[in-house]
Amino acid sequence: MSEPIVLMRGERVALGPLHAGLLPLLARWANDPRTVELGGDAFRPKPREAVEAEWAPLLRGERPGWAGFAIYALPGLRPVGLANVRDFLTPQRTAEFGITIGDPADRGRGYGAEATRMLLGWAFAELGVHNVWLDTLSTNPGAIRAYARAGFREIGRIRQARRIGGVVADLVLMECLATEFAGTAFGDDPPPAG
Ligand SMILES: CC(C)(COP(=O)(O)OP(=O)(O)OC[C@H]1O[C@@H](n2cnc3c(N)ncnc32)[C@H](O)[C@@H]1OP(=O)(O)O)[C@@H](O)C(=O)NCCC(=O)NCCS
Repeated sequence: MSEPIVLMRGERVALGPLHAGLLPLLARWANDPRTVELGGDAFRPKPREAVEAEWAPLLRGERPGWAGFAIYALPGLRPVGLANVRDFLTPQRTAEFGITIGDPADRGRGYGAEATRMLLGWAFAELGVHNVWLDTLSTNPGAIRAYARAGFREIGRIRQARRIGGVVADLVLMECLATEFAGTAFGDDPPPAG
């Protein structure tokens, strides 16, 4: 495969457009029960055809208000995950954020936090949104930590909102404002919620 297109380059990761060559990896990650559950969904086996059908409109750029990126580890540009901002075409000028580092062996190495930081900067500068938000499970401390390092802060919880793999969890709501992002440095600990 030819060298992937890179749109943004950080210290540990680079971001580029998604492409159909990633589908085998996407199918592998979609069939890892723990990864799916950490993402907040109940696991169901997903045939390659179902993965392709789900991704087809996104890879064709047919979902308005959705921008997805492949995450590549540097320096070799090995694909390690994907991230997106979505629902940014509403009059409210907000966006929701999502990210997956697919292989458990690639987690905890700073890839997620840096990619999140890069996409926050991109969303504020390029999309002109003023608030990017996300939700994640209270049982996913690595995600909460990565998001906080990137500039998100917790704003509240929907308690006992998910039951995944028999475990009841809160949904942790986090947000980052454009005005606050400008004043933070990567890796800052955010102020406490409230
Ligand atoms: C969430 C996710 C994107 C974060 O990416 P990542 O590359 O693993 O995150 P980073 O390495 O940048 O940061 C993780 C931080 O959490 C910490 N961490 C990891 N596991 C932890 C745990 N069990 N408890 C507390 N902190 C933990 C790490 O030490 C690191 O903090 P540090 O940089 O201060 O040392 C990634 O782990 C992932 O895709 N997980 C599976 C799917 C998922 O959870 N998706 C998100 C759904 S909202």
